[in-house]
Formats: sequence, C-alpha cells, structure tokens
Amino acid sequence: MSDSVKVALVGCGFFARNHLFSWKDLAAEGADLVAVCDIDAAKAEAAAKEFNVPRWYTDFDAMVEAEQIDLLDIATRMDTHRMLVEKAIGRGIATIVQKPFAPTWEDAVAMTAAAEKAGVFLAVHENFRFQTPLIRVAETLRTGVIGTPSWGRISFRTGYDIYAGQPYFFDEERFIILDLGVHTLDIARVFMGEVERVYCETQQRNPKVKAEDTATVMLKHVSGAVSVVDFTYESRKEPDPFPETMVEIEGPDGAVVVDAGLTMQVTSGGEMRTEDIGAPLLHWTSKPWHVAQESVLITCRHMLESFRAKDAAATAAADNLKTFAVVEAAYESAASGTAVKPRAYP
Ligand SMILES: NC(=O)c1ccc[n+]([C@@H]2O[C@H](COP(=O)([O-])OP(=O)(O)OC[C@H]3O[C@@H](n4cnc5c(N)ncnc54)[C@H](O)[C@@H]3O)[C@@H](O)[C@H]2O)c1
Repeated sequence: MSDSVKVALVGCGFFARNHLFSWKDLAAEGADLVAVCDIDAAKAEAAAKEFNVPRWYTDFDAMVEAEQIDLLDIATRMDTHRMLVEKAIGRGIATIVQKPFAPTWEDAVAMTAAAEKAGVFLAVHENFRFQTPLIRVAETLRTGVIGTPSWGRISFRTGYDIYAGQPYFFDEERFIILDLGVHTLDIARVFMGEVERVYCETQQRNPKVKAEDTATVMLKHVSGAVSVVDFTYESRKEPDPFPETMVEIEGPDGAVVVDAGLTMQVTSGGEMRTEDIGAPLLHWTSKPWHVAQESVLITCRHMLESFRAKDAAATAAADNLKTFAVVEAAYESAASGTAVKPRAYP
C-alpha cells in the first residue's frame, strides 16, 4: 500500500454518510480518515463513533489547527463552501467540495482563483460522471461506434420524495437547476463537449417550493451538436426510475440509448446490442440509491488518486466552473426568454 493520505470530513449530515462509508472503504487504498467535524456536536460524535474515526470537532478552525490534514472533504451545503474552502486553501490544504460548488458564479470564481493562486488542489465532488452506468456510456462514445455525437437527450425525471431527506429544498431561491441540473448539464459536457449557447424554460409545479422544480434546457455545443437536458422532481410516472439518468445520443453511425432499468442499447452499423450497465450493490448501498451511492466511492477514489499523482481532478474547480457557467446561463435564459452564451472563466 502506498503512503497513507490523512483525510478529514466537514459536514456530517444527510449525504455525508456516503462519504464516510467511501473513505472507510478506501482505507484499503491508503485513505486514513483522521477527523470529522460538524457544528452539531451530536452529528459529529455519532459519525466518529459509527465509522471509528479517531477525533471529532464542532469547530472547523480548531480541527484544521489541531490536525495534519492532507485532503479535506467538504460535505456541507453550498452556503458554507466559500468560507470553508478559503480557510483550507489559505492553509495549503488540498480540498474537495460537494456540489453545487457555490450559490453564485462570483463565489465559485473566487474559490477557483484562490486555489490557482496558491497552487492548491481544489476539486468539486461532481459524482454523476462517476456513476457506473454513465461511465459506460462515456466509454462507449469514446470508442467511436456511433461517430461524433450530433444530437442527445439527457433526462432525469422523478417524483421520488427528495424532500424527506433534504427538507431545505422547500426554501431554495434557485432550486433544481443548481441542485440536479448541475449534474445532468455536466454529463452533457462529458458526452457532447463544451457548450456555446443555452436556452431554458423552467416550471414550478409543486406549490410548496419557492423556486423551479422542473427545467427543460436546450444546448448548442461547440461541436455543432444539439442536446436537450430535462429534469424534474414532479414526474408522476410508474415505475419511477429514481435516481437513474436516461440517455439518448445519436451520431452519424448509430445511437446509444439508456432506458429505465439501466440497460444500454448500442446501435452501430445497423446492428443493435444490449449491455447491462447497472451498478453493483456494495455492503453499504441499497436500492434505489445504490447507483448514486457507489458513485461517491468512485469519486472519492478518483480524488485520492489525483491528489496522490499531483494531477488536477477531472472535476477540478476550473472544470466545474464550465458546468456552473451553463447553470448560470440556464437561469439567465429562463429569466430573459432568450438564448444565452455561457460565461467564460479567464
Ligand atoms: N452529489 C450528490 O449526489 C448529492 C446528493 C445529496 C446532497 N448533496 C450535496 O451535499 C451537500 C450537503 O447536503 P446534505 O443534504 O447532506 O445537507 P445537510 O444539511 O443534511 O448536512 C450538512 C451538514 O453540515 C453541517 N454544517 C453546516 N455548516 C457547518 C460548518 N461551518 N462546519 C461544520 N459543519 C457544518 C450541518 O450541521 C449539517 O449536519 C449539499 O451541497 C448537497 O447539494 C450531493
């Protein structure tokens, strides 16, 4: 085993369990989870006890002062990201931060610039592109079996009660594009390349939420390809495919289709083959969340390996800004009723 990497986790809430299981699984690959932190003492202590973490804190400053942290994993909500990231980067600590990177473009840019100036590793835990089924789609597209993608649809439609685990969604000022669209728009970049123009229509279908819970986005990619990225938390369709992402990509030589149930149909040269691309069940994952849960392990592994190799992560801050720019463009488009060019990070 290579030298151990001392990892600390901040934020021990709803989603952090997946990070805790992942870092413990990655102990076999050299991740040493030395400390956890949450402003809620009960959560920090419970996480430390359950996951056998040597030390727990309620104060982030106290934790970074006392611990020798190689890799910090931030799993708090976005309103705290900039404050925590800037403190960590100021101390030269390599940092991973959950999506959404930040509430605003300005915050995301400030964190990216600070990390670049300090020469410190900063990456966003953007895990959809690390889901086993979506990795298989990307690999298949890269083989060239359908030619260069010219049209695509990436779709996430559910009526699953996401509010039970994340009740803060009711009060978000900007909701599904920032929460879920950030994942599916990232996938559109991975499959179809960078984005030149964005048109978006939003809907608020659940009267109990403050902001949009449904969005239909049309992207013109730099390659000339066009894609539709649509997502909602208000689909009433059975069987509900939560939390699977449906995919349809067409190219000059064929098509790749992922339907509910996670089978991939690849048509190439007039022949169609079917492949099971489901994620395996791990000792700590359960249906229907297992595809998303396993992707946390794969994402954390990628972060560990990138950090060790002194490489930028695939979802480094500067890369995630490109997705964030598409998110911002979608909001601008929905507000203005016009197509919007995504901002560029200098
Ligand atoms: N990638 C995914 O698939 C996925 C899925 C769900 C949630 N998330 C993201 O994970 C993040 C956390 O979401 P959640 O639902 O777990 O939220 P949560 O509110 O359940 O957990 C956040 C935790 O952070 C703690 N916290 C807040 N400020 C802190 C500080 N300054 N220092 C230490 N602890 C602090 C809170 O006490 C809370 O326990 C969000 O950004 C969310 O978008 C990602």
